[in-house]
Amino acid sequence: MPHIKQPLSRMNDNKRSYQPYSNKPGECVVKGSKGGSYLGLRIESISFPLTISALQAGICLCLMNGEEPQEIIISDSNIGGIEKWKTLFDVHIQIVEKVHLKQLIEEVVSLQSLNLDLTRDSIFSPISHDELELSHMVPELEKALQQRNQNLPIFTKKQMDKVAAKLRQLCSYAICEESNFPVSAMIWTEHGFFPGVNVEFRDWENGLCAERTALASALRFSPKHIYGLFVHAEQGDLSTPCGACRQVLNEHMPYAKLYSLHKDGSWSEYSIHELLPHAFSSNVLSKTIE
Ligand code: THU
Repeated sequence: MPHIKQPLSRMNDNKRSYQPYSNKPGECVVKGSKGGSYLGLRIESISFPLTISALQAGICLCLMNGEEPQEIIISDSNIGGIEKWKTLFDVHIQIVEKVHLKQLIEEVVSLQSLNLDLTRDSIFSPISHDELELSHMVPELEKALQQRNQNLPIFTKKQMDKVAAKLRQLCSYAICEESNFPVSAMIWTEHGFFPGVNVEFRDWENGLCAERTALASALRFSPKHIYGLFVHAEQGDLSTPCGACRQVLNEHMPYAKLYSLHKDGSWSEYSIHELLPHAFSSNVLSKTIE
């Protein structure tokens, strides 16, 4: 097996964002038109242009949940991209003290983890292990992952059918007026399954793939483990992540499994690092390594 660095620490100064290369401000809360609040985290990539900004993450999560972004709450006016998002959405920007933003973030996260937020009926709430009848597998998985065991426990057909149904259902929530190419994904952590779909904008440039909205959703809860990723491209010949997603995923979950549900209903399994041989990496760029 090739040598792969473990993901860098996600926790800098108690921040939930992943910013090991810059230590730049990386958190915001986006308020939606139906009253929901979405934590947007900066998720840096060792390939800098693939970095997801806090605003991009928060706005994509808000749109994915069927709400128009109305207000963005930040604590640092130097956070990147404000002007761009203001023009795209006519959002109000509120700048608050750092401690207030921190408090608000903790409130938003605890509401969402308890499914008490206004979007609680949303298909994008974290899906529990119980719901997919997987709770009994969690201790076994933890052990397997610690030992970098590639032979993770195998799902039953019933479980895979449930996951498939969820992925298919999620595709109808994709925001893809430009491509008409819905993609759904779920990131599997110890806190459950975090759904994502692709979110597109008219400019094609600022949207996110389903794999990355799912990642932005899952990282809000500071997972210790990422067990796997499920992906479904309803109209794709094969459902595999694009090159940019592979680079991003490899940084957070190199040993996790990718479970691809193809159009014809068949599944393929890969290890994330297998999908990115000779991945871009450099010790020179890493500021904080665990
Ligand atoms: N897309 C994904 O969501 N994941 C991938 O891995 C490949 C591409 C989306 C992005 C865009 O919304 C649409 O598919 C067409 O590129």
